[in-house]
Amino acid sequence: MELQNKNILLGVTGGIAAYKAVELLRLLKKTGANVNVIMTDSAQKFVGKTTFEVLSENKVLSDLFFDTESSVKHIELATRAHAAIIAPATANTIAKLAHGIADDALSTTLLAVTCPVLVCPSMNTDMYQNIRVQRNLDILEKDGWVILDPDSGVLACKTIGTGRLPEPWFIFDRVEAMLVKKDLKGKNILISAGPTIEPLDPVRYISNHSSGKMGYAIARAAEKRGGQVTLVSGPVSLSAPVGVECICVQTCEEMGDQMLSRFDQADIIIKVAAVADYKPMDPKTSKIKKKEKDKDLSILMTQNPDILKLLGKKKTKGQFLVGFAAETDDLEKNALLKMEKKNLDMIAANIVGSSDSGFKADTNKVKLFFKDGSSFDIPLMEKDKVADILIDQVIEKME
Ligand code: PMT
Repeated sequence: MELQNKNILLGVTGGIAAYKAVELLRLLKKTGANVNVIMTDSAQKFVGKTTFEVLSENKVLSDLFFDTESSVKHIELATRAHAAIIAPATANTIAKLAHGIADDALSTTLLAVTCPVLVCPSMNTDMYQNIRVQRNLDILEKDGWVILDPDSGVLACKTIGTGRLPEPWFIFDRVEAMLVKKDLKGKNILISAGPTIEPLDPVRYISNHSSGKMGYAIARAAEKRGGQVTLVSGPVSLSAPVGVECICVQTCEEMGDQMLSRFDQADIIIKVAAVADYKPMDPKTSKIKKKEKDKDLSILMTQNPDILKLLGKKKTKGQFLVGFAAETDDLEKNALLKMEKKNLDMIAANIVGSSDSGFKADTNKVKLFFKDGSSFDIPLMEKDKVADILIDQVIEKME
């Protein structure tokens, strides 16, 4: 969303990871960004210009004198850029940028940019750890550019160590984060997501269909907006969002312990998790065996603590507490009741039971209700977008 219609400069320098810049370009284009690629001479030894030209639908700039009809093309690109990425960034280009050397199309253009810049170093481990390279990266960081730490793994030189260019989706995620307004800076956000599972015996449990997608989307959005985010998550198959402290739990009780122990430090608390209201009263320590004579099996259940209600009781001035309500019917009535009973500032009423909203879906449709009696409809859209609008609303009500 952040990159739609934005002008992005993608600088590609001569490293084996230059091929990953092609995938990064595809991701940027997919979100509707206008991308101008600038390549160094050595980058072209690894990947041809044509690939970047076809995918970006723009001419690649690599020679200030021959590639362009205008003698100030580099200034034009620099002036209108909303963000610049150098991926991969070699030690040579990093050194030039740190010292203001402008001897090719990329270094000259980057001397003229005023937009945020993301530098993605990629090289052999010894080169990366070399004191001169580190000093140059420090200079760029102190100047306000964002440096992305390289990954560890097997490198082109067959050694194992730090120096790999991170995956394109990760770089893309960090470019987005760079452009988002940091309106949650200085705020601690505590989020719960996913289901809880309540064991019956060592091999079986009671749970629900929560995939964690909604809660993880909110955690991602909050982190990008500058928040210090802690995510307490039931078992899901999603990767932990970048920059978020992720705590994995299984049961309602474990989730409750983690949420309660972190609650006092939190400014905004959003409880998206689908928590089991009941758990087996007497979970067995060995597997429950099937008995031929028993056609039916009854399991006695006991109530789990209501975590959100406990948080509502602890809430102090300045804290903003949000609950979700998954409802199949009487959405508004049930949501409002829960908001009052649990002392919430806002509740996101979520119609569940259809394939495009609620559990497991990539999209969601919610109605937000506020303590002051107002409400706000979020129509069916991607969970990432729902997350952003929900945060907008929280910020507006907190002010
Ligand atoms: O994870 P996804 O697949 O993306 O699906 C998202 C979702 C449907 C799970 C999510 O949008 C949602 O609606 N979450 C709330 C689900 C739920 O359990 O609702 P509830 O009405 O049972 O509970 C109301 C609130 O009390 C929730 O904030 C819940 O976290 C909290 N609660 C409930 C029971 C309990 N013992 N402790 C709690 O804290």
